[in-house]
Amino acid sequence: MQEAFDLLIRQGRAVTPAGVVETDIGVRAGRIAGLGDLSAARSAETLDARRLLVLPGVIDSQVHLREPGLEHKEDLETGTAAAALGGVTAVFEMPNTKPATTDPGALEDKLRRARGRVWCDVAFLVGASRENADRLVEYERLPGCAGIKVFMGSSTGSLLVEDDETLERVLRSGVRRVAVHAEDEPRLRERRTLAESRHEPAAHPDWRDEETALRATRRLLALAATTSRPVHVLHVTTAGEVLLLAEHKDLASMEVTPQHLTFAAPECYERLGSRAQMNPPIRGEEHRAALWHAVETGIVDVIGSDHAPHTLEEKARPYPASPSGMPGVQTMLPVMLEHVAAGRLRLERLVDLLCAGPARVYGVAGKGRIAVGYDADLVLVDPRIERTIEDAMVRSRCGWTPFAGMPVRGWPVATIVRGHLVMRDDELLGEPAGRPVRFLGCPA
Ligand code: DOR
Repeated sequence: MQEAFDLLIRQGRAVTPAGVVETDIGVRAGRIAGLGDLSAARSAETLDARRLLVLPGVIDSQVHLREPGLEHKEDLETGTAAAALGGVTAVFEMPNTKPATTDPGALEDKLRRARGRVWCDVAFLVGASRENADRLVEYERLPGCAGIKVFMGSSTGSLLVEDDETLERVLRSGVRRVAVHAEDEPRLRERRTLAESRHEPAAHPDWRDEETALRATRRLLALAATTSRPVHVLHVTTAGEVLLLAEHKDLASMEVTPQHLTFAAPECYERLGSRAQMNPPIRGEEHRAALWHAVETGIVDVIGSDHAPHTLEEKARPYPASPSGMPGVQTMLPVMLEHVAAGRLRLERLVDLLCAGPARVYGVAGKGRIAVGYDADLVLVDPRIERTIEDAMVRSRCGWTPFAGMPVRGWPVATIVRGHLVMRDDELLGEPAGRPVRFLGCPA
């Protein structure tokens, strides 16, 4: 009998576990159902992917979508619209909203808000605190929960686990990998006057210096070893942490962001001012080089955007009252494709960092690779498109990007979420139909 699909993506160059191959991709009931030469198959819909690359949909495992409580910067609809336009098919949302996501009620509220309003699949992290530390073992298994997030240093919002005793309780409560913002709060407090005495964002990496990051990561790794709990160090920024993390691959995975790979101090602060301000900070060239070395040598597991929108009005407050964070979910893939075009990493490595990596680190069920049986989350990329990133193309409510003015080669031209075409040529299509991401070993 002739095979029948709902959607057939014809003759693209797909990045699969078997390498980059020209293949058709047959989709049935939201999943990849056939690979290879499917020219004899019937299909309700067909997409011509000749001269296009087909990648697994990007999983952006660190985004702040600001709902509830901070919707003047972003919400679930605007943030996931930006994601879909950027080739992202799933996002993991961070808990530092208002209120913070620290209990099952707050998680359920976010899932309810997401229904019918998100353009890609979503999951939410639960924030660890002194109060909920012993209950995280139950919370991490809740449907739609991507895992537990710890802020060791304070950033936007009030979530904080600053002492080793609480951190150890957090690590002992549960089994899934814990995502950690590693900056040492006592040192941040000690050095705060450094930021206050110099009213310029260029002071940011001096206040939140390398030692602040290294100290927290060292403390975290010691406790991860004591408790045998795997951890994931978010947005790593220093050469020292890379060395340390390379010694602990059996315990710790690591993330870097496109902005830490693309920008360097002092130039970024001179050019972008507080738009370049984030936690942990953009640092000097030697640290950027160390992060690239970590990408090349396989130490980095994941690239995440740390999409952290703030309005330009907020950013215009005099430093250090200007908030830390920059948007990035929509630009992550284009910026990284430019790094591929410039020869800084290979496309297969990029796919590992943007798709398979997050799936592996967070234990995602059925996403992150182009393989039969996996969700049909795909992004079609035209490698011939050359564009300059501009504020005007940003769909995030904040309306700006630190990458404005950057010329890039390669652009996402179609985004497919579980077989639904949600973006074509920079336009959103259909209705927002994102669903909660499923995780291995957790109830759906
Ligand atoms: O720069 C940052 N902004 N780093 C964080 O850890 C939080 C984020 C935010 O939510 O604004």
